Amino acid sequence: MTDTETQRLVDGAKAVLKANDLGRSTKPAPNLYPHQWNWDSCFIAIGIARYDCRRAAEEIRSLLGGQWSNGMVPQIVFNPNAGGYFPGPDVWQSERSPDAPKAMRTSGITDPPVLAIAVRAIWDNASDRAWALEFLRDVYPRLVHYHEFLYGERDPDGTGLIVVAHPWESGLDNAPPYLDAGSRVHLTYKPQYERLDLLHVEAKHRPTNKDYDLFIWLLEQMRAANWDQRRYLATAPLQVQDVLFNSILCRANRELAAIAEILGESPDQADEWRARTARAINERLWNETAGTYFSFDRVAGRLLEDDTIAGFITLFGGVPPPERARILVERHLLDPAAYWPSAGYPVPTTAMNSPWFNPENYWLGPVWVNTNWMTLRGLAEYGFVRESDDLRSSTLDMVKRSGYREYFNPVSCEGYGTDSFSWTAALTIDLICSQPGRVL
Ligand code: SER
Repeated sequence: MTDTETQRLVDGAKAVLKANDLGRSTKPAPNLYPHQWNWDSCFIAIGIARYDCRRAAEEIRSLLGGQWSNGMVPQIVFNPNAGGYFPGPDVWQSERSPDAPKAMRTSGITDPPVLAIAVRAIWDNASDRAWALEFLRDVYPRLVHYHEFLYGERDPDGTGLIVVAHPWESGLDNAPPYLDAGSRVHLTYKPQYERLDLLHVEAKHRPTNKDYDLFIWLLEQMRAANWDQRRYLATAPLQVQDVLFNSILCRANRELAAIAEILGESPDQADEWRARTARAINERLWNETAGTYFSFDRVAGRLLEDDTIAGFITLFGGVPPPERARILVERHLLDPAAYWPSAGYPVPTTAMNSPWFNPENYWLGPVWVNTNWMTLRGLAEYGFVRESDDLRSSTLDMVKRSGYREYFNPVSCEGYGTDSFSWTAALTIDLICSQPGRVL
């Protein structure tokens, strides 16, 4: 890519983020997602930190404004000035829980825990060290509280494998493991609702109505327990010990330990959490025959042997020992029939040779920039530098060709979902800046 093309990509990305700016937070997209989303804001902060650390810090502070008193950082913090999203605050009714914040309404579930990773990125980019130290000091206790929530309320087996109780919590809504585990959930009634996402995106690119029935029925079950985590988990019909969620948590614990050390606090708890979760992923989620990690269905008591990108996010988490990393990358990731199309754009979110694969539908196959971003960072850290560089180039090329779309066809590169998608823009900036010698 020429310097002019690169500059154009950066300028376009900044324009997307500016247009989606709500003041103290950024909506993921102009119409489809008009509120503040947890992991979206974390990826957005990582990108914005490359040129405006104070604004990136505001993104995080705004997200933490929605933190519950039990430590949960919710998946959505609702923007009181925006409507047009289903399910909105009146459906979630977070006020049913005494733990929910009083000043604002949120959803009742969490999201993949990217938070500490974003905070660390802000620290790394800040030139005003005194300001950055103050920022870390301010948010650190709340990051710890969030991780305490995950280990205290979402680790029922005490193994360090956190349970995801709703597909939306996994971030990968309709990925095969959730459709698989979801197919065993008996919906006792057909929920009544009206979808609004289809006003903005073609139905063939979004989860199906059947998927939404599951999403909304589960929401209503959790709501009926007034968002009481323990009470709900005791009989929850969907419980997945998710590879991507737990791998991100390993990485977040690593960054939390680093932040503790910067502040002169003890890193021991975060280190112990990281080691416990990484050990459990290795002991319980590795499948030698497939050469990858699978999520575990805690209700059915079995691995969900559905091949998805989640396995590669273990690299970002620093989870696999070197021999497993080699199998994962050489046998699995680089397989042109599965994840590395010889004429196309890696990495499809579901393996191309999986029966679930659909190159046009949400998490069933399209390439997403955030999963590529995590995968390529993990690759570089495990010594697969050429593959990491290739993945960065193909990801930037994809955005250059098709724009700041939500997701992309791994073969044709066609963009799908919403346009002007904030994390695509933010991570494009971060990918450009992570090339040697590049600063904005
Ligand atoms: N991804 C979900 C949606 O599509 C919410 O997190 O609305």
